[in-house]
Amino acid sequence: MITTQLVLPNDTNQLGNLLGGTLMHWIDIVAAISAQRHSGRVCVTASVDELNFHCPIKLGEIVTLQASINRAFTTSMEVGVIVTATGAQGHPPRRANNAYLTFVALDADGHPVPVPPIIPETEDEKRRYDKALERRQLRLRHRRPK
Ligand SMILES: CC(C)(COP(=O)(O)OP(=O)(O)OC[C@H]1O[C@@H](n2cnc3c(N)ncnc32)[C@H](O)[C@@H]1OP(=O)(O)O)[C@@H](O)C(=O)NCCC(=O)NCCS
Repeated sequence: MITTQLVLPNDTNQLGNLLGGTLMHWIDIVAAISAQRHSGRVCVTASVDELNFHCPIKLGEIVTLQASINRAFTTSMEVGVIVTATGAQGHPPRRANNAYLTFVALDADGHPVPVPPIIPETEDEKRRYDKALERRQLRLRHRRPK
């Protein structure tokens, strides 16, 4: 799933750079739509892994957010989002961010519900599928005990 956004004055700080919080909001939304499309359920964000801002995104640039379901577990899914920014002068797009989010599908009563599996096909999908399991093990180790 791909969405694009135009960075407008209200999205920027005093330096004319895209606000981190605005970008996080866009990332969360594109990832949520991906998770909801895959599961056919309402999904909530359970966690967001480390989020790095590699380079500033400037006023007037076009931001492309590409989300994919890296792996489905039982009721949760890891969604990867790649963010690229393109200037107005036809410069090539540059990678500005990437993020991994975990979404949980809920039933009508708000309880976690199983989601369909992901079957990776390409080499890239298989790599992301394998890495998603490693990341899940790490993030669940840091999960607050109930
Ligand atoms: C996410 C939430 C539904 C999990 O509920 P829970 O009672 O912990 O449920 P469970 O222990 O049965 O876990 C359900 C799934 O969530 C996953 N999960 C729970 N906490 C997690 C975390 N911090 N990071 C990653 N995955 C997590 C579990 O691994 C499990 O996945 P699996 O079924 O694929 O193995 C619950 O914590 C919640 O509602 N949190 C608030 C969500 C929210 O408001 N988000 C912001 C707005 S969308």
